[in-house]
Amino acid sequence: MVQLSTAVCLLGGLFLIAPVLMAPTHSSMCTPLRTINDSLSHRRRYMKHNFPIEYTIKVHNREIFRLSNISRMKLRTEGLNDLVLQRLWFQVYQGVLKKILWVLPTRHPSRPYTAELERRFKDAQAVFMQSHPAEVFQEDLPEKIQDIWDSLTEKPENMPESSWRFATPKSLLDNLCRTMYCLFSECFSNADVQEDYCEVSHWRKGRKKDMQPES
Ligand SMILES: *[C@@H]1O[C@H](CO)[C@@H](O)[C@H](O)[C@H]1NC(C)=O
Ligand SMILES: *[C@@H]1O[C@H](CO)[C@@H](O)[C@H](O)[C@H]1NC(C)=O
Repeated sequence: MVQLSTAVCLLGGLFLIAPVLMAPTHSSMCTPLRTINDSLSHRRRYMKHNFPIEYTIKVHNREIFRLSNISRMKLRTEGLNDLVLQRLWFQVYQGVLKKILWVLPTRHPSRPYTAELERRFKDAQAVFMQSHPAEVFQEDLPEKIQDIWDSLTEKPENMPESSWRFATPKSLLDNLCRTMYCLFSECFSNADVQEDYCEVSHWRKGRKKDMQPES
């Protein structure tokens, strides 16, 4: 009898922690993320062809969030897990989308596309928040991540001039897309081919002309 109740307790405990520990990407996330992916497949047209050549926008240096950042963070940050990176991803890219939208005049041909993409992003963010217990979002972030978070949420006028960068809208969305595949790989992996989307070299296969230097 004692054993049985211990087992039940243990099981109860497991059920409580299991969703957090075992499912960094809740399967309900996949539908909204694939919707974003559908939008992103048109990014060349809307983020490149509709802009003047070499058009760049001013972003915070932390808004340049690439695969190389993720691999560096994984190596150097204690207490980092996928959920923390996913939270950071939403924080970074909500700001990026807002900035792209902000530079587009009302009648710019890319405006409806960008507004729609931002809407889809917000939907995914809402599902993300719902698919984890609220306490998860109150947990302390690892120190290095908290520093990045703080600078992202700092008022622009308090940012030193040195923290700004210029990037093409297309390169920002390329980064958004690649980091999304990496951080939510369960939603994008193909059963037949084992691909590591977090691998920087994955994206280098003859696609050099897409890699815009951000400076
Ligand atoms: C994501 O979009 C690309 C086209 O940009 C497509 O080839 C791929 O199948 C999509 N992935 C999923 C899981 O929908
Ligand atoms: C990513 O790395 C670059 C340097 O390569 C840096 O400027 C940028 O701030 C980093 N992004 C984040 C989110 O830490």
